Amino acid sequence: MITIIASALVCLSLFNNVHTAEGRTIILARPGDDVNLPCRLKPSDDAVFGGLGNRISWTKVENDVEVDVLLSMGVHQVEYERFEKHVKLLKADENDATLVIRNLRLDDFGIYKCEVVEGMDDIVNEVEIKMHGVVFPYQPNLRRYILNFHDAEVACSEQDAVLASFEQLYQAWKGGLDWCNAGWLSDGTVQYPINKPRVPCGGKVPPGVRSYGRRNKTSRFDAFCYTAGYNGEVFFVDQKLNFTEAVQVCENKGAELAKVGHMFAAWKLNGYDRCDAGWLADGSVRYPISRPRMKCSPTEAAVRHVGFPDKKHKLCGAYCYMVHQ
Ligand SMILES: *[C@@H]1O[C@H](CO)[C@@H](O)[C@H](O)[C@H]1NC(C)=O
Ligand SMILES: *[C@@H]1O[C@H](CO)[C@@H](O)[C@H](O)[C@H]1NC(C)=O
Repeated sequence: MITIIASALVCLSLFNNVHTAEGRTIILARPGDDVNLPCRLKPSDDAVFGGLGNRISWTKVENDVEVDVLLSMGVHQVEYERFEKHVKLLKADENDATLVIRNLRLDDFGIYKCEVVEGMDDIVNEVEIKMHGVVFPYQPNLRRYILNFHDAEVACSEQDAVLASFEQLYQAWKGGLDWCNAGWLSDGTVQYPINKPRVPCGGKVPPGVRSYGRRNKTSRFDAFCYTAGYNGEVFFVDQKLNFTEAVQVCENKGAELAKVGHMFAAWKLNGYDRCDAGWLADGSVRYPISRPRMKCSPTEAAVRHVGFPDKKHKLCGAYCYMVHQ
C-alpha cells in the first residue's frame, strides 16, 4: 500500500486536490457489528414501497463481479446463499430500502449496490463497509528490519498508534494491504500481508498473511501499527518549508505536525486525498491518494512515501493535525 517513489519527485507541487466522495456511502464497522446500509426510494405519489412496481435488488461487488445478496419484489423476497438469514430489509417506512446485515463477518466487508426499479426510474446507490480503524506498516528512516519488539511498540506509539493484532492485520490484508517486509504484531509473532504473490515475498503461493511465527523479541523486523482513528483533522500547509519550519507552522495554527498514524487514518477513514508531498512528525515526507491518477499514484489508493529527506531542505509543505475541541 505504501510505495516509495523516486526521490526526484520530492515535494513537487503536483496538483491541488481535495476530498474524494464519488457519491458512495462509507460505513465503518467491526466484525460482529450489526450495520444498516442505507438506500431510499424517491418519494412519489404512485410508487409505494413493496408495491408491484418496485423491485429492490442488493448485490455485493466481489472480484469485480456483482454477487446477489437480496431481491425483493412486492411481497416476495429472496436472500441468496451465504446471506440467507444474515440480511433483511429494514422497511422503516414505505420509501426505505435499507439493508440490515447482522453480526458482520470478515467476508461481509466491501462494496454493496442497491438498485431500485421504480416505474421508469432506476435508482442505484453504493455503500461500502470498511473496517473500523487502519493498519499501517512502519519502518523508520527507510531502513528495514531495525526494530526489536520493544522498539516496534515504541515506534507505533510515537505515531499515536499501537502494535496491530493478528485479527487487525488479517482484516487489513482482506482490504488489500500488500507489504513485502515482515513486521511485529502485538502477540510477538512476525508476519506480513501479501495480496499480489511474487517471488521475493514468499514465492508464488496463494495470497495470504505470511507468518514467521513467534520470534525472539531481540530479533529485528518492521512493525505493523493500528489506530482506530482520531477526533481531529489533518490539513495541508502549502509552503516550501524545512522540517523545523514545518513544526513551527503547525504550532502557529494551534495544531501539531501530523504523525504517520494521523495521516493513515485521514486517508483510510476519511478519504483524504492531496497530491502534495508534506512533512510528517517522524521526519518522513508523504502524501495521501484516495483517487488514483496519473502523476500522483496511478494504480492504487495509497499513502505515498517519498522518503526521509534532509531536514534542512526547504522543500515541502506540512501536514498538520488539529484535535477537535
Ligand atoms: C534471544 O536472543 C538473545 C540474543 O541473541 C539471546 O541471548 C536469548 O537467549 C534469546 N532468547 C530466547 C528465548 O531464545
Ligand atoms: C530551517 O530554517 C530556519 C530559518 O528559516 C533555520 O533557523 C532552521 O535552523 C532550519 N532548520 C533546519 C533543520 O535546518
